Amino acid sequence: MAPASKIASTLSDANFSSNRTNMTSDLHRTPRGTADILPDDQPYWDWIRDTAREVTRRFDYRRIDTPVFEGTSVFVRTVGEGTDIVEKEMYTFLDRGDDQLTLRPEGTAPVCRAYLQHGMHSLPQPVRMFYIAPIFRYERPQAGRYRQHWQFGVEAIGDPNPEVDAETIHLLWSFLAELGLQDLSLRLNSIGDTVCRPAYLDALRAHYQPRLGEVCDDCRVRYEKNPLRLLDCKQGRCQSAIADAPQISGLLCDACAEHFAGVRSILELWEIPYEIAPRLVRGLDYYTRTVFEIHPAVERSQTALGAGGRYDGLIERLGGRPTPGVGFGSGIERMILNLKEAGIEPPGVARPDVFIVYLGEQAQRKALGLAAELRANGLSVLAPTGSRSLRAQFRAADTSGAPTAIVLGDDELKRGEATVRDLKTGDQSSIPMDRIVDALSVSSQS
Ligand code: HAM
Repeated sequence: MAPASKIASTLSDANFSSNRTNMTSDLHRTPRGTADILPDDQPYWDWIRDTAREVTRRFDYRRIDTPVFEGTSVFVRTVGEGTDIVEKEMYTFLDRGDDQLTLRPEGTAPVCRAYLQHGMHSLPQPVRMFYIAPIFRYERPQAGRYRQHWQFGVEAIGDPNPEVDAETIHLLWSFLAELGLQDLSLRLNSIGDTVCRPAYLDALRAHYQPRLGEVCDDCRVRYEKNPLRLLDCKQGRCQSAIADAPQISGLLCDACAEHFAGVRSILELWEIPYEIAPRLVRGLDYYTRTVFEIHPAVERSQTALGAGGRYDGLIERLGGRPTPGVGFGSGIERMILNLKEAGIEPPGVARPDVFIVYLGEQAQRKALGLAAELRANGLSVLAPTGSRSLRAQFRAADTSGAPTAIVLGDDELKRGEATVRDLKTGDQSSIPMDRIVDALSVSSQS
């Protein structure tokens, strides 16, 4: 298992550009907070995407893809004007037709926009959808926090019942478990709805009013614009005000309390352990009732592997009829960081089936023809280029990880045969050229 510090630096410094001076060097580099996903890391991505597809299949969620950019108002109206995302983090631009557009800073609002635009309320409810999509936020990059990251997310739209909240949590929990991530902690809260939250916000303001002198500048703005976010401040000087702030649990209306009890009892039925996090509020304005986050065993500053909640007012904010919804988003880069830290590798890294080694011009043409034939039969084939020594070719064959080499030389060509060598044991046999495709196709399937 690689040390955590090494992994963090691989992801944050090497792959994810975080050094501004890089941008001024001669070499063009990825923009700050973004990364190339190099071939060595692709097996993690394939595995995570495959697992997401498999787990969503079990819960009958179907894939949706929305454009990378949307009209800016889709996010301003839903995520909320007082949030960090809308105020500081959106990549917003005017296109050549003077339309104001924003690179998707989160996945929920676009899916709700699509639900509305395509009249999905006429389908059986809830409509269950998932996405695997890049997300863009102008954040301060650090390990686990990037300016472009990828989210696997789900949204279940059109059903207000607590079973659906529990279902999305179960889906995320199953997905992370399927990847082998252990000792996760699920944090759960209810932040009420339009009936009971106003009274809670009043209580929160009353608590903060005499403390406005001690809290940070951002919190003074939050006090005015978005008091719920006061509970989410990370500044040291604000922690004591947070610690003795009133909790919403005591102020939930009967309907919200009953809904929350419903979610909890289903999680208990499914034996999904959770802890109540009375100050969990989340950074987006659209949430109502259930909110949750899943964190790994090892805490860092940016830890949530996935997070979400209910958003019963969101579709109305987009101009639709009142329509409930619930879902989550989970960061793929953070998952990979945690998988590497736990020493968990993706199963079955793809290797070529066959490496063709040849000696001489005639043998090369034969090798190229054979490579095409084997590929047409579904095998993955590598052959060296140019005229390299046999030794160099065998070295390349070993490095490639192919289990089998085919050796073609003058002798073999004269006999109309090829030598097939098992690269692990060194055992070899001669096989007539006209039987080689069948012989290798069968052995690669066994
Ligand atoms: P979020 O908490 O902002 O929620 O993001 C969801 C997840 O995306 C986080 O828990 C984290 O794993 C990952 N993430 C967020 N920002 C970054 C970043 N800068 N770098 C790397 N990973 C990041 C949402 O976006 C909601 N749309 C989730 C949701 C769906 N709620 C209901 N449905």
